[in-house]
Amino acid sequence: MRKEIKEAARLLRAGKLVVFPTETVYGLGALATDDKAVASIYELKGRPTFNPLIAHVDTPEMAEKYVEMTPLAKKLMNEFWPGPLTLVLKRKKDCTVSLLASAGLDTLAVRCPKNQIALDLIHETGEAIVAPSANPSGEVSPTTAQHVISSFGERTPFLIDGGPCQVGLESTVLLVTGEKAAVLRYGGLSIDDIESVCGPTIRPEKDQDAPMSPGQLKSHYAPHLPLRMNALEAFEGEALLGFGKAPHAVLNLSEKEDLKEAAANLFSMVRQLDNPKYTGIAVMPVPMEGLGYAINDRLKRASYKKK
Ligand code: TXA
Ligand code: MG
Repeated sequence: MRKEIKEAARLLRAGKLVVFPTETVYGLGALATDDKAVASIYELKGRPTFNPLIAHVDTPEMAEKYVEMTPLAKKLMNEFWPGPLTLVLKRKKDCTVSLLASAGLDTLAVRCPKNQIALDLIHETGEAIVAPSANPSGEVSPTTAQHVISSFGERTPFLIDGGPCQVGLESTVLLVTGEKAAVLRYGGLSIDDIESVCGPTIRPEKDQDAPMSPGQLKSHYAPHLPLRMNALEAFEGEALLGFGKAPHAVLNLSEKEDLKEAAANLFSMVRQLDNPKYTGIAVMPVPMEGLGYAINDRLKRASYKKK
């Protein structure tokens, strides 16, 4: 096992994906700081949208490298980590985790899994591992290595088989930026256990102004500037975000029209251009194929925002 963990860590650091066990479900992991590797996750899962991912850490100290701690988060970490509890916190200003992993949001989900292989792998990698469940979009989460192999077949990345997952249900997700915890997803750790430590939580079915459950979650970063899609050129004052050959582009998602590269650059480039020195952001057409669906979905949401 030691050798496999070393090899998996080496692959992660080289920008490759790795499947690893956690106590909840198997994860499809990438080095959290590598935009391109994170783009490969979305590509392999075949998601039509970019959903924010969980950064897996080996200790609360590692989480603290990336996110702004709150007293509530600290309390919950002390009590339930390692374990099936994911905490959503504000990204630190100098957070090195890929913005694509946060789907462009100012927050990042962090979790410390209760599985020795996962913990050793994160430790050996030396950086957080972002991982959604290791299943194609629309399929159920895998709780054995065989599930993963039967979904991905030959496209299965390097996989560490740790046997069946103990919990078998995804982690509970809480937003803990404020004084009260808000439930974003029910999962492997019960709300009763959580409330016995931190008091009443805000819950989607009970509180009208609870944050949206993941499906409806306002998990979309919108730029301040108006964003125009399918632009062939920029109007006066606008910044042109290129795709393909674009001599007048301020920034280019991918000169060589590589959709994975474009996905990797998307959020950080839109952020860079979201600057009051421009009147708007004009984005050149991105083809509707492969990761192009998720990129266009994202751009469409950003362009619909009311000014
Ligand atoms: O047990 C688990 O959580 C497994 C194992 C592999 O750790 N992972 C998992 O990941 O289920 P995924 O990507 O299938 O689900 C992540 C959930 C989604 O509901 C997502 O919306 C939410 O976490 N999430 C992640 N980052 C978020 C953020 N910044 N704000 C709000 N919700 C977030
Ligand atoms: Mg999932």
